[in-house]
Amino acid sequence: MTEAFESIFKTKLAKLLRTNRFGKSIYVFNELDSTQEYANTLPINESVHGTIVIARKQNVGKGRIGRTWISPEGGLWMSIVIRPDFSVDHIIFTQFIAALAVADAIQQATNIRSRLKWPNDVLINEKKVCGILVDVNLEGKDKKIVMGIGLNANIESSLINNYLTDDTTKATTLKGEYGNDIDLVYLTKSIVDRIEYYYNFLSSGKALEIIELWKQNSDMFGRRAIVYDGIEKIIGEVVDIDQDGSLIMKLGDGSTKKITYYGNVTFR
Ligand code: BTN
Repeated sequence: MTEAFESIFKTKLAKLLRTNRFGKSIYVFNELDSTQEYANTLPINESVHGTIVIARKQNVGKGRIGRTWISPEGGLWMSIVIRPDFSVDHIIFTQFIAALAVADAIQQATNIRSRLKWPNDVLINEKKVCGILVDVNLEGKDKKIVMGIGLNANIESSLINNYLTDDTTKATTLKGEYGNDIDLVYLTKSIVDRIEYYYNFLSSGKALEIIELWKQNSDMFGRRAIVYDGIEKIIGEVVDIDQDGSLIMKLGDGSTKKITYYGNVTFR
């Protein structure tokens, strides 16, 4: 039964994918502590660029800033190994391309237009439906980025809606917003296809186009927000995304401030 899930998922996904490089190597598990941890520790010869690790459920899903990510059966828990062929300054854009890919796949499956929140959340009705975690290791021979995607897909929203994903943002699920279950393999295929599509922008030096697309998919601009950049609390209006991917805020005194690290953003 368990084995059947793994091999059916893998075979169907491999058949559906229309990619050149992403998903040429796929690992599917019934259960893992964390796909992120698994992908991070895969030996170099078993983790070519585009390797995908998927688990039906995770026992110790990892969220950002040391948080736990609740990962019951029904969600899409996936990590993708990237062997970057772009400048290290562009690493932040791997989060942008993952978020764009997820938003496209959600729209394709449900017609729901999700919205992006800097740096890496996908929201529906202001609630977080997907989180993205990027681990970067560019030291030594085994240079890789592991992009983790946690999409609360076919999960009853009552299971997770008591969780705050950061100080104020509530969690939701696709099932809660859409009302029905979605074919998880097909959803995975759409996300991976779109990740490859957007990744090609980065490898061909078109990061600015990724920023533009990201901005079109976000409602953050013009809103008052509180941002925690490390320990500093910044209050202001969100005005733009800079060329390096940082968030630009306009402060009360009219000056602007760039938020470079992944500060939590909450709206007022
Ligand atoms: C966040 O805190 O917003 C990021 C959550 C990322 C969760 C995903 S689920 C797949 C992958 N494996 C993990 O353990 N974490 C990421």
